[in-house]
Amino acid sequence: MDVERVLLVWFVTLIPGILSDPSDEACLTNLRKSLEDPNNLLHNWKKENFVKPCNDSTSDLQGITCNNGRIYRLSLNNLSLRGTLSPFLSNCTNLQALDLSSNFLTGPIPPELQSLVNLAVLNLSSNRLQGEIPLQLALCAYLNIIDLHRNFLTGPIPQQFGLLVRLSAFDVSDNRLSGPIPASLSNRSGNFPRFNASSFLGNKDLYGYPLPPLRNRGLSVLAIVGIGLGSGLASLVLSFTGVCIWLKITERKMALEEGKISHLMPDY
Ligand SMILES: *[C@@H]1O[C@H](CO)[C@@H](O)[C@H](O)[C@H]1NC(C)=O
Ligand SMILES: *[C@@H]1O[C@H](CO)[C@@H](O)[C@H](O)[C@H]1NC(C)=O
Ligand SMILES: *[C@@H]1O[C@H](CO)[C@@H](O)[C@H](O)[C@H]1NC(C)=O
Ligand SMILES: *[C@@H]1O[C@H](CO)[C@@H](O)[C@H](O)[C@H]1NC(C)=O
Ligand SMILES: *[C@@H]1O[C@H](CO)[C@@H](O)[C@H](O)[C@H]1NC(C)=O
Ligand SMILES: *[C@@H]1O[C@H](CO)[C@@H](O)[C@H](O)[C@H]1NC(C)=O
Repeated sequence: MDVERVLLVWFVTLIPGILSDPSDEACLTNLRKSLEDPNNLLHNWKKENFVKPCNDSTSDLQGITCNNGRIYRLSLNNLSLRGTLSPFLSNCTNLQALDLSSNFLTGPIPPELQSLVNLAVLNLSSNRLQGEIPLQLALCAYLNIIDLHRNFLTGPIPQQFGLLVRLSAFDVSDNRLSGPIPASLSNRSGNFPRFNASSFLGNKDLYGYPLPPLRNRGLSVLAIVGIGLGSGLASLVLSFTGVCIWLKITERKMALEEGKISHLMPDY
């Protein structure tokens, strides 16, 4: 037997070993722990199937697509899943598409997702996610689609998202976001796409182009009338006091002048 043949046999027998990936296993094991599946729809998501989730490009595991023995798409949408997003999703390092939309997931979007450097699609829409949108997502340079619409996300839209030059779809509508819309997302400059108002609507405290300008933002009509009346009254009181003081001063001056004059006048 020549050395080349031995090496080949050794290499071929090694491939199944390569296919069982410890990172993907950690990813799935922890994700399964963080998810609740009340309707028992993740039938085969069992510990023993996580060791080798990929059979080349296919997987027996529901919602998983593989490529070269690694998980590359994870799609568990509309399964009534509860629970949270595991930060160990970041262990699925070859992931290109993550779709957990239309479930009942709570808690934050883990900033650890920044390690998913191949991520192109992130769809977490229609859940109950809370907290701020992690600015670290801007490090996933291949992101094409960010869909976070219909959640309970708060805080600003990270300015850093302007760095995501490949972004072709962006939707954060119907959340609780606040602050200005980053100009890099709303305006076209060079090859940057522009996202229209539909991407941003339904966030009470989000403002700026392309959203329509807001009437009396933050202040009710009553408050404005109150402030108007109040300041009107205050200036009235102020000017009245001013006039009074002026009158007093001139009165005193006049009295003084009068005194001087009477002083000069001879007494009769
Ligand atoms: C999973 O990711 C964590 C940090 O995100 C890292 O510490 C750990 O080594 C990873 N595990 C595997 C098996 O890759
Ligand atoms: C892997 O794929 C082969 C052929 O496509 C199939 O016979 C085998 O049952 C699969 N194994 C697993 C664990 O899915
Ligand atoms: C979600 O699943 C339910 C049943 O489980 C189905 O009736 C509904 O059409 C699905 N919605 C979408 C958007 O796929
Ligand atoms: C995200 O998933 C929802 C269904 O759960 C779908 O309606 C929506 O179109 C997806 N977003 C994008 C940008 O593809
Ligand atoms: C974006 O461009 C529009 C005109 O197309 C302009 O009116 C608006 O002020 C610009 N907004 C920002 C934030 O640059
Ligand atoms: C806003 O953009 C979306 C997707 O880019 C498009 O489907 C929709 O028609 C646009 N709406 C308006 C009012 O331009």
